[in-house]
Amino acid sequence: MLAQNTVPAVLPRHLAIIMDGNGRWAQARGLARSDGHRAGAENVRTIVTECRKLAIPYLTLYAFSTENWKRPQTEISVLFTLLSDFLRKELPLLQAQKIRLQTIGQIEELPFAQRTALSHALHVTKDNTAMTLNLALNYGGRSELVRAVRAIVHEGIEEEAITEECLAQHLYTAGQPDPDCVIRTSGEQRLSNYLLFQSAYSELIFSQAYWPDFDAAQLHMALEEYAGRKRRFGKTQEQVVSCVTD
Ligand code: IPE
Ligand code: IPE
Ligand code: MG
Repeated sequence: MLAQNTVPAVLPRHLAIIMDGNGRWAQARGLARSDGHRAGAENVRTIVTECRKLAIPYLTLYAFSTENWKRPQTEISVLFTLLSDFLRKELPLLQAQKIRLQTIGQIEELPFAQRTALSHALHVTKDNTAMTLNLALNYGGRSELVRAVRAIVHEGIEEEAITEECLAQHLYTAGQPDPDCVIRTSGEQRLSNYLLFQSAYSELIFSQAYWPDFDAAQLHMALEEYAGRKRRFGKTQEQVVSCVTD
């Protein structure tokens, strides 16, 4: 077991997590899927607090995808109720830890109660600077790209001015660094429409733990794995090494 007191040598500036496995966590215990989602929501506090302690500046959590609307209506309702509960219960903690809450995704399509709770939490935390917590809600990478292209067309931007930077500036994450690391829990090894443009050079880490079991120790293990990765961005290993020693 890695000591949680030791901070990995290199930490991501932006960590993105696909919080997966609530249903299987519950199933393994003979519980209902809703119990898994409740345990998963509880775990958000643990991981947010640990990332804040580590001084990771940006944390993005995948909470509800554009594809998750395909789930039974009862399960969707449970997820949205948990979101409202989370916002109400955790807002003081976000404030105390000076965490700014942001959302990525089509928030306007969420139910009224959740939109209201979100806009309140966004407003209350807007001046916090210690960490940015992006909640990905009704988020899909493909729909984000379509939205960006539409905005670019709508603004009448010249063809030559449509660059990678221009596209990045029209994404929900405009102004934020790309995720250095994407962690997916529960053993699945896919992106499921998460941060498709932004994760072009992210290190991908897959944990076997179901999200409710992904605790601070598991996070540290994943971050140690990240710290051991050699990022090249298209260069040769020799170029990367000489760049570090220059
Ligand atoms: C992640 O857990 C939560 C959401 C996708 C909202 P799942 O509900 O996907 O859990 P599994 O994958 O069925 O175990
Ligand atoms: C991805 O998990 C979305 C979230 C964690 C919110 P899913 O469980 O929905 O992904 P798939 O369907 O297994 O790819
Ligand atoms: Mg899943």
